[in-house]
Amino acid sequence: MSLVNENKNNKNRKILVTSALPYASGSLHLGHLVEHSQSDIWARLMRSLGHEVKYLCADDAHGTPIMLNAEKQGMTPEALVDGIRDEHWADLQGFGISYDHYHSTHTEENKNLVSEIYLKLKGAGHIESKVIEQYFDPEKEMFLPDRFVKGTCPKCGADDQYGDNCEVCGATYDSSEVKNPKSAVSGATPILKESKHLFVNLKQFEGMLKDWVNSGTLQTEVSNKLAEWFEAGLQSWDISRDSPYFGFQIPGEENKYFYVWMDAPVGYLACLKHICDKTGEAFEPWINPNTDHEMVHFIGKDILYFHSLFWPAMLSGAGMKLPNAVYVHGFLTVNGTKMSKSRGTFIKASTYLDHLNPDYLRYYFAAKLSDGVVDIDLSMDDFRQRVNSDLVGKVVNIASRCAGFIKKKFDSKLSAELHNQALYDEFMSHSDEIAQLFEARKYNAAVRQIMALADKANQYIADMAPWVAVKDESRMEEVHQVCSTGINLFRVLMTWLAPVIPFTARKAEAFLNVDLNDWYAINSPLFNHEINKFKPLMARIEAETLEKVMEASKQDLEAKETSVIQVENNGQLDKDPISDEIAFDDFAKIDLRIVKIVDAKAVEKADKLLQLTLDLGGVTKNVFAGIKSAYKAEDLIGKHTVMVANLAPRKMRFGLSEGMVLAAGPGGDDLYILEPHEGAVPGMRVK
Ligand code: 2FM
Ligand code: ZN
Repeated sequence: MSLVNENKNNKNRKILVTSALPYASGSLHLGHLVEHSQSDIWARLMRSLGHEVKYLCADDAHGTPIMLNAEKQGMTPEALVDGIRDEHWADLQGFGISYDHYHSTHTEENKNLVSEIYLKLKGAGHIESKVIEQYFDPEKEMFLPDRFVKGTCPKCGADDQYGDNCEVCGATYDSSEVKNPKSAVSGATPILKESKHLFVNLKQFEGMLKDWVNSGTLQTEVSNKLAEWFEAGLQSWDISRDSPYFGFQIPGEENKYFYVWMDAPVGYLACLKHICDKTGEAFEPWINPNTDHEMVHFIGKDILYFHSLFWPAMLSGAGMKLPNAVYVHGFLTVNGTKMSKSRGTFIKASTYLDHLNPDYLRYYFAAKLSDGVVDIDLSMDDFRQRVNSDLVGKVVNIASRCAGFIKKKFDSKLSAELHNQALYDEFMSHSDEIAQLFEARKYNAAVRQIMALADKANQYIADMAPWVAVKDESRMEEVHQVCSTGINLFRVLMTWLAPVIPFTARKAEAFLNVDLNDWYAINSPLFNHEINKFKPLMARIEAETLEKVMEASKQDLEAKETSVIQVENNGQLDKDPISDEIAFDDFAKIDLRIVKIVDAKAVEKADKLLQLTLDLGGVTKNVFAGIKSAYKAEDLIGKHTVMVANLAPRKMRFGLSEGMVLAAGPGGDDLYILEPHEGAVPGMRVK
């Protein structure tokens, strides 16, 4: 008996599988999908092998950028992260990512767990406090993370660089070294100010971390990286942030919050706790170091430090189970380079889903992913050719060549025996190895093997040519058995591919009348089994569709640059709470004017933009407004509306935009410009 079969019979493993928690800031893009696809394929495979999987993720809700983002959008951070979580979850479901639950780190479970872990660390003497000096924005009255300090690079003198690194010369430095520092939040000159901070003494965990690293569960590149970090010496880790901060208050401290990276990984366990509480299952065995329950994290290479040093240290300090594995993948490039908004290769998950079948991308990523920490490239031409040739040309083709004969000639019933049992057995002799390759995350090798077998199945059908034999009445049984062999081989291939292309697998299940989620069901072929009508399982990717995706991605960028303030509450205040109060003086700074639209025209190569010429009562302004989907240019000419007249002009790809017109709408393309009552004339100030 094979190893996999033995595992299946002897051990029903209990595995917590996670992906890194996306920040509740921007939209998900294809870069995120590498990881969610990689972990989803793994989770689906383990389920198919009969193990109990808790596959979980959440939005990472806390931190200064999210707090400021919410403020900028006039929302509470809670409302902002709730909305983004819903959007992320919709995208992930669109890609068939089968999380058992998608949570948020801004939850009671997480607050309780992170506090519990912190208090245990404190009780065991792992927390120390130190007074540190940091830049403080005197206008906003907040400490500034390095990213929010901008200034002149101390190394090369380039202006307008971040407080932690220079994008011109690549130098990294401390924000206190930056020349002419300015707060990126208010523009004020920051001052250095002291504050007490809390630190986890990481040095105290060095021995434990080295043992964990040497336990052999990490990739070689990862262990090597860790060896470098040990060599450089472990530094204490600052886990506190001063108010104002969107996060959890640290118990026993005043105005101190947990740094987002303290509660983020705890979010994995909070999500688990949430579903355990819901189902009544015990949570404790999952965190108990003495059980066989497994914890497996999928992450990108940029967040290794947090997952391989801080996170195990926190768990160990709190007496909890350590991760069994941290699987690290590389970054995604598109067409050979970094994803670029202007080239249309920064593709949002939702934009992809508007045009393409998610299984295409899942398959392509699988065909490229290995167990190494290597970057993978989505080359659009290769993507199209690979999917068309492998999935459409090889796998689906097997079913489409055989299905018609079974339906027409044999009443949709498969034969009582196979024409080529040896070929079926040969396929099955690969099943354990394919499972092992998937489990070892060598998806590219597994896919190669599956496609080589798909070639064999196609060759077999070509050699048997049932379309020739069917013309001879005396060869009917042969046709029946050949086509039934083909359908059975298709079922085997689809069972192996089901974790990779779940949407296609569901369609294949409807056709085959079987469950493709059980790796072992294919041990027995289908005999005398009734199948259903064959419907095309997958269309080819057309080059034009890919062009459309890239064009739409450029438009996404324009939509962001759009010169319309959208009042996105749709009249439903409970859904979209009113923004935080602002002082009257702040309101008074906005110069709102009545304008007449004297000209309006479509902007070439921009789906969403109209170029408006606005008359402010003698003065004209040029504004690019993202309202093309809601209005025809010519219908706007002559209308009056309201504009923000004193907005600093913004350089856009199409020219200078000198203000904004006001429009309301629930979001998306449904927009209404504001129109004043009759009598209001251009130039009048809105009071
Ligand atoms: O890098 C990121 O996108 C983080 N939001 C990942 C957090 S993973 C975990 F620790 F929560
Ligand atoms: Zn520099």
